[in-house]
Amino acid sequence: MRRFLCFLFTGLLALPVLAQEPILIRFSHVVADDTPKGKGALLFKKLAEERLAGKVRVEVYPNSTLYGDADEMEALLDGRVELLAPSLSKFDRYTSKLQLFDLPFLFDDAEAVKRFGRREKSRELLRSMVNHGISGLAYWSNGLKQLSADRPLLLPEDARGVSFRIQNSAVLQSQFEAVGARPVRLAFGDMYKALASGQVQGAENPWSNIVSQNVHAVQSHIMESNHGVLHYMLITSTRFWNGLPYAIRVELDDIIEEVTQMVNAEAEALNARDRARIAASGKTRLITLTPEQRAAWREAMLPVWKQYEAAIGADVIRAALAVNRGS
Ligand code: LMR
Repeated sequence: MRRFLCFLFTGLLALPVLAQEPILIRFSHVVADDTPKGKGALLFKKLAEERLAGKVRVEVYPNSTLYGDADEMEALLDGRVELLAPSLSKFDRYTSKLQLFDLPFLFDDAEAVKRFGRREKSRELLRSMVNHGISGLAYWSNGLKQLSADRPLLLPEDARGVSFRIQNSAVLQSQFEAVGARPVRLAFGDMYKALASGQVQGAENPWSNIVSQNVHAVQSHIMESNHGVLHYMLITSTRFWNGLPYAIRVELDDIIEEVTQMVNAEAEALNARDRARIAASGKTRLITLTPEQRAAWREAMLPVWKQYEAAIGADVIRAALAVNRGS
């Protein structure tokens, strides 16, 4: 018997240890590393691989190198990528509620958007696509959008007939139609070529995307219009996230909280840095709209709110407006 037990024990020791493969999290996005979202993705990788060493491996794919605007959502739902952070303009297909963030001149400034991100109403919106299998994990800030074009655009009438690259968003389409412009939906990865070749004549971007895509090199005028926001929702597939071991999910939730604070704290500074780079580049003319000019754009674009009120929900719009300082 003793010989048998000894044999059994030695045999068990000789069994190969079944090494548990780390869980792979692929994070795909469309912007450069040196932007608020790009830095957030890299910090998420660093913290996840430090704190969950051997349990989680994170691969970050910036600049549409894995998937771009056209195919990233399908990839997420098919389990070919686990994290994305599309701008809030890119969810039309899944919910009309997030169209809120595209309403022109809705928020006073980027601080107001951040305040809204902490309110119960916006937390609810993180769950607005669960019936499509998409879970929102956090809001990441970028900044306010600026108009750019191959000509000065001081007043809304200057945009009449001008073609603008827009994201895949009905509200943004209506926003440009409201001033008689011609919106053209194009993937972010195609924007630079479209502007450089003259396929479109203008665009709207936060400073960080203008610099990292070299938009200022191919647009003769940039108008500091601050007319809308470009923020993101960090999303995952509900099936993937719910299938994670509980302890890992809790740790990842904590990491995301920490990364979100970093992104939201640094977005403004990064955009200010990039604004200064554009001003110093000598490649374009930077025009700050006067309060009167900005008011004229606001008035021309404001009818868009009414157009989308039913789809978004008057309660959601009210909750967003309540975070503005002036209200
Ligand atoms: C755009 O398409 O203009 C933006 O959504 C790109 C981004 O992710 O910042």
